Amino acid sequence: MNRRKFMAAAAAGAASLEAAPRLAIEGGAPVRATPLRARHWGPLYYDDKERAALNEVLDIGAPFRWWGQPGGKPPTKVATFEKEFAERMQTRFALAVTSGTAALQTAVAAFGVGPGDEVILPAWTWHSTCTAVIMAGALPVFAEVDESFNLDPTDLERKITPRTKLVIVAHLQGVPADMDAILEIARRHKLKVLEDCAQAVGGSYKGRPLGSLGDMGIYSHQVNKTISSGEGGSVVTSDPLLFERASRFHDVGSLRALHEERVGKAALEPFAGVNFRMNEFTGGVMLAQLRKLDTIIGAARNHVRRIYDSLTGLDGIRFRKRPDPDGETGDSVYIGFDSQERRDRFMEAMKAENVPARPPSGSVVLPVQNYIEKKLTAFPNWPTWTMGRGPTIRYGAESCPRTLDILNRFAGVAVDPKFTRRDVDDIIAAIRKVYPAVMAS
Ligand SMILES: Cc1ncc(COP(=O)(O)O)c(C=O)c1O
Repeated sequence: MNRRKFMAAAAAGAASLEAAPRLAIEGGAPVRATPLRARHWGPLYYDDKERAALNEVLDIGAPFRWWGQPGGKPPTKVATFEKEFAERMQTRFALAVTSGTAALQTAVAAFGVGPGDEVILPAWTWHSTCTAVIMAGALPVFAEVDESFNLDPTDLERKITPRTKLVIVAHLQGVPADMDAILEIARRHKLKVLEDCAQAVGGSYKGRPLGSLGDMGIYSHQVNKTISSGEGGSVVTSDPLLFERASRFHDVGSLRALHEERVGKAALEPFAGVNFRMNEFTGGVMLAQLRKLDTIIGAARNHVRRIYDSLTGLDGIRFRKRPDPDGETGDSVYIGFDSQERRDRFMEAMKAENVPARPPSGSVVLPVQNYIEKKLTAFPNWPTWTMGRGPTIRYGAESCPRTLDILNRFAGVAVDPKFTRRDVDDIIAAIRKVYPAVMAS
C-alpha cells in the first residue's frame, strides 16, 4: 500500500491498514443493504390535522376563500394561514397564492418591474425565478453563484447598471445566501430585494426568518418543499403598498375587505391582474403543515448537524459554503472536490454503498437553457429582448463559467426529517469510507 492509501486509511479512522474497509464498488460489502432515499418532507407528516381541515371544508361546502359559508361569514382557512404565516415569518403581511411561480410573478408585479428594467438573479436557480422577470417584460441579468450555490455578492455588484431595478436572491436547497453582503450592496445602489425562499421555507439568517430580510419574500408549497399541499405559494412583505399591489395583482386587480382591513385603507385604484387565489382545501392543509414547520425542520437540522460534526475531522474535507449553519433547513450535506472526475468517482462509489450522492439539484443553470440562450418568448416581440440591452445581452456558458465549474465539482446527500439514527449513521459511515479513498486515487 502506498503512502496516499495509508493516509486515506488513517483518515477513514481504520484501526489498522488491514481493517480499511474495501469499497463496495471494488467488491467490498456496502454500508447499507438497500439504497437510502430522502422522501418528500411535508406528506411524511400528514395526519388527522390535515384530514380534519379537508373534511371541514367538504362539510361546510365552502371551498372558495372569499365567500360561500352558511350564514354569510367568510371562510377562515386561507385567511388564518396568511395570518399565521406572516407571524412565523415576522412580516406584517402574507398573501397565499397558487404556487411559488405565481408568488414570484405577483412579487415582481408588486415592485412595478416592467419593460426596460433589468433584474439581477443568480445563474443557478429554478426556471420560475427567471420566467417571472420575463413575464413582466423585464430583462434577466445573471450573476454567478459562489460555493454556497447562491448569489455571489461580488458578481452581483459587477452586474448592476443604471437600469437595474430589482435583485432576486434565492436561498437554494435550504441554505441561506450571504445576506449581509447582498443587502449592503443593494441598499448602497438603492435596489429592491426579493428573496426567493421556495427551497428554504422556515430557514433563517442570523436569527431572522428568510423572506423577512429583503423588501419581499416568496415561498413554494409544492411537494419537494419543507411543507406542502402538493402545490401552493406565499408572498410576504412588511410594506403595505407592496402588499396592496401584490393582493390586487393576484386577484384580478381588486382588494378584498380582509386585505383592505390589513393595510388600513386602499391606496390604489384597481389595475389589470390575474387569478392566483389559494382555495380553502389548500389553505386548510397548509395551515396544518405550517403548525408543524418547526418540528419538521428541527428534525432535519439535527440530522445535518450530526453529519457535518462527524465529518469535520476528515482529512482535507471541504463543504459547501454555509453563510449561517444554524439557519439552514437541513436539506442536504454537500462536499467539494478539486475536479469533476473526482466528484463523479465519489458519486459512483457512494451509489455502490447504497448511500447515493448527487450533484446540486432542484435548479437549472439558466443562462444555458435553450429558450434563454435563444431569447425565446411566446410572443416574438416581447419587450424582454427587444428593449434596452435586450438585443445585445449574451447568455450561454461563457456568461457563467464559475457557476458551471462549482456545480460540476460538488456532490451531496439529501436528508429527510424522518431518517432514523441508523440512516444518518450510514451517511456518515459511507462518506468516511468513500471520501478518503477517492481523494487518494
Ligand atoms: C427556487 C425556486 N423558485 C420558485 C419555484 C417555483 O415554485 P412552484 O413549483 O411552487 O411554482 C421553485 C420550485 O421548485 C424553486 O425551486
